[in-house]
Amino acid sequence: MIGVFDSGLGGLTVLSALTERFPGQSFVYLGDHAHVPYGDRPSEDIIDLTRIGVEALFERGCKLVLLGCNTATAVAARRLQTTWLPSTPWAAVGHNVVGIVAPTVEAATQTPWAVTTPQYPQKFLTDRIAVFGTTRTIASNVYAEEIRKRCPKVTVVQQVCAELAGAIERDVPEESLERLVVAGIDGAMAQSGGEPPHRAILGCTHFPLVEHLFRRHLPAATRILSQPQIVADSLEDYLSRHPHYLGETPAADGASGNAAPPSLVLLTTGDTVEASARARVFAKTTLDFEHLDAGRLAASRAP
Ligand code: DGL
Repeated sequence: MIGVFDSGLGGLTVLSALTERFPGQSFVYLGDHAHVPYGDRPSEDIIDLTRIGVEALFERGCKLVLLGCNTATAVAARRLQTTWLPSTPWAAVGHNVVGIVAPTVEAATQTPWAVTTPQYPQKFLTDRIAVFGTTRTIASNVYAEEIRKRCPKVTVVQQVCAELAGAIERDVPEESLERLVVAGIDGAMAQSGGEPPHRAILGCTHFPLVEHLFRRHLPAATRILSQPQIVADSLEDYLSRHPHYLGETPAADGASGNAAPPSLVLLTTGDTVEASARARVFAKTTLDFEHLDAGRLAASRAP
């Protein structure tokens, strides 16, 4: 079983690419609706909340957890991978947590994550990449740093869209969402002296839900990178190298050996009725959330 974690609904954009790519695979999704949005929270809060979510997903039987959230990845992934996980019993039984910034940088730079010095021909690229994200993601500078390591001549314009994820969660009218998107695009264009970006990273998993608005207001020549597709491609590659995270769908009938159909469990730390209603709008299908009480896990802190 694979876990997908997000602060709220945004990770559903990633989950939906994954369920399409891996139709035989079981997933557990956790939206931390009790604490959404993460984008303006202090970093230590984001690290703690992400650790609680990952641990809850491990406890639900997920050996691999994907942070389907740029903010959680930018702020917490490295700390959880290098400090917290190795200090827990989960590491000894092969559990792992991965993020979504690395595959996005790989796709944007056409360079593998392991390569951290500029290589031909990427080292001569001179185009412009715009990154739209939450306050914390942009403040982490992770996209700019990791892109420039691989493509030092590329201009990276980073634009905070502070209120957009929260507005998407609150289901505000389309005109209000459009105003926030336009403000973000105007901010990015102003930073680059009116020069349009060649490529745009919607560096928040909530933003694909308003991708049509970014498409409407970005210049036609700007290519919007599809983070859910990028993440699905990258996970497919990762799982081909780590196949033990795949499958393990329990047999429904031990005697005949028929495998049980893949399951999809949706958990929320918030209100189940509200999360299910909102998710249906995005998923265009019935998605019923169950409540997760993570109170016990909140008692300790990530080292
Ligand atoms: N969807 C998340 C991201 O990718 C978090 C948005 C938020 O909670 O502020 O950044």
